Amino acid sequence: MAQDSSDIGARIVVLASGSGSNLQVLLDAVESGWSVAGVVSDQPDARALRRAAAAEVPSRVVEWGDHADRNEFTDAICAAAGEFDPDYIVLAGFMRVLGPSAVVQFPDRIINIHPSLLPAFPGAHGVRDALAYGAKVTGVTLHFVDEHLDHGPIIAQEALAVMPGDDEAALHSRIQVIEHRLLPEVVTRLAAGEFEISGRKVKRRVNA
Ligand code: GAR
Repeated sequence: MAQDSSDIGARIVVLASGSGSNLQVLLDAVESGWSVAGVVSDQPDARALRRAAAAEVPSRVVEWGDHADRNEFTDAICAAAGEFDPDYIVLAGFMRVLGPSAVVQFPDRIINIHPSLLPAFPGAHGVRDALAYGAKVTGVTLHFVDEHLDHGPIIAQEALAVMPGDDEAALHSRIQVIEHRLLPEVVTRLAAGEFEISGRKVKRRVNA
């Protein structure tokens, strides 16, 4: 039986391209106040879609190659996400860059998780790039999405040390331990209306 929004709290739609371990943490969360209402992927074979199906959460696939350009792809992604009537959209390992119309359609309602301490190492290879640069410290960033890549106001960050023997897989797995703890915490605070954006600063709303 379909739940109405008063049953499930804030409706979270997750965009994911790959494994979906962050999606899984959100599917498994027992937080009150929000629930994953739908999943959208650009990859028809993404494990994230199988995780959604196993949790009986509906999903949609919007493939990059079926669209003429980034703007058309972005509109199709937004339309698919919109079918789930989202309060907030979470980019959790979504590896396509959305065009500016996404933030026009969902202003201050899209967040992204990124595996580095932004503004260091934006892009698709945040872990690899930090290692190649010789960074001694890297981490995780949760931020609101704006019209620039990996750039919007920062909600939360956590640092961790790069160890001398780290390769990309080892470092990424320690980063994911942090991601899997931080992401549901941030979604809970987001759903509670706790965040107020003032320029680049994300503050705690006074009455939240
Ligand atoms: C996560 O580590 C996330 O931070 C990263 O992709 C991984 C997805 O893992 N995102 C980016 O690099 C975005 N630029 P998951 O599919 O297991 O959740």
